[in-house]
Amino acid sequence: KVVAVIMVGGPTKGTEFRPVSFNTPKPLFPLAGQPMVHHPISACKRMPNLAQVFLIGFYEDREFALYVSSISNELKVPVRYLKEDKPHGSAGALYYFRDLIMEDAPSHIFLLNCDVCCSFPLPDMLEAHRGYGGIGTLLVIKVSAESANKFGELVADPITKELLHYTEKPETFVSDLINCGVYVFTPKIFSAIQVSTHREDRANLRQVPSFEALQSATRSLPTDFVRLDQDILSPLAGKKQLYTYETMDFWEQIKTPGMSLKCSALYLSQFQFTSPHLLASGDGSESATIIGDVYVHPSAKIHPTAKIGPNVSISANVRIAAGVRLISCIILDDVEIKENAVVMHAIVGRKSSIGRWSRAQAEGDYNAKLGITILGEAVTVEDEVVVTDSIVLPNKTLNVSVQEDIIL
Ligand code: GDD
Repeated sequence: KVVAVIMVGGPTKGTEFRPVSFNTPKPLFPLAGQPMVHHPISACKRMPNLAQVFLIGFYEDREFALYVSSISNELKVPVRYLKEDKPHGSAGALYYFRDLIMEDAPSHIFLLNCDVCCSFPLPDMLEAHRGYGGIGTLLVIKVSAESANKFGELVADPITKELLHYTEKPETFVSDLINCGVYVFTPKIFSAIQVSTHREDRANLRQVPSFEALQSATRSLPTDFVRLDQDILSPLAGKKQLYTYETMDFWEQIKTPGMSLKCSALYLSQFQFTSPHLLASGDGSESATIIGDVYVHPSAKIHPTAKIGPNVSISANVRIAAGVRLISCIILDDVEIKENAVVMHAIVGRKSSIGRWSRAQAEGDYNAKLGITILGEAVTVEDEVVVTDSIVLPNKTLNVSVQEDIIL
């Protein structure tokens, strides 16, 4: 049996993701029409022998209650939300819930960051891990040398794939091979977390005790905040305990709203292989014109003269009027887009409305601060108003055009 743990963080994390995360926890923000965390969960579901999926975070229970019960029913696998009373760090959080995680006596534990977008090649990782031995295997990828310092940089043995050296977000360049935030561990990881926090024991990390031996030993951590990267991966590197599996597939980190647009496109294109039924087809005389990969919630009402795509995702109860053009955008619940409006490289928040002949648009530089236009919740853009490269905070009404502006 295997179990999966997805780290979802909490309200004090993911602040760069505002203003789109004001009312929705970031892990539930829709990418390709599905909550962000849905994508790693469905990847876990493709694992044979999956016993349970745990989401660990410090958001309030009620924010996840509805989602975990609906996804459990949909996928027919138990998905549970475990709430920390305060942040324990990525390894500390795993350790805190070790008894629940070990309930089904899994042979392996997958650990996934919620804010990464990739194909999650979990069965391949497990097979590679079984071949290597050791406590765990990290998913890694080559990125450009300029961008590597945003991630954990690492050196692996080219033949054995052993993790030889690991540095979290180093100031000076170490390697363009980086940590993807997706891991498979044996239960020995719990002992490694416990041992590593006793400073004097770090040198002895080579002899990691078994989970059973640990259970009868001391129960509490001397420090209750442990980061997986700095506190566990760095000291364990070069000790024949950790190995790497390099993905050649897509991988991105989702820290900003701009990146969520890019990742929505990646997941929509993955749907061609994994869930083609979720992609709008544009067949039928009553349907709007669909270009490329588009997701439309079944409750949305779209006028047949609208033209939509590529990379558009439209959530529940959205109304799209005649002559509307949508390109590369995420339209959240209950939005109304009136006749002949254009939305391009933008996120439109819940309950917002865009007037006739108006535009919400941007250049579409997903890495730049104002590279996409964001309308917060319940924003009204009146008729014939153009919003370009701007961020509009919730509940504003715009009756004049704005450019490269942040409307507070
Ligand atoms: N439950 C819980 N509790 N989750 C946490 C906590 C915590 O105390 N701290 C962080 N997380 C979650 C975050 O929500 C995120 O999903 C994941 O753990 C990692 O977050 P950070 O520790 O903030 O690290 P990061 O995202 O800047 O970088 C990590 O991921 C990169 C890949 O995306 C590092 O491991 C990098 O090395 C790696 O490249």
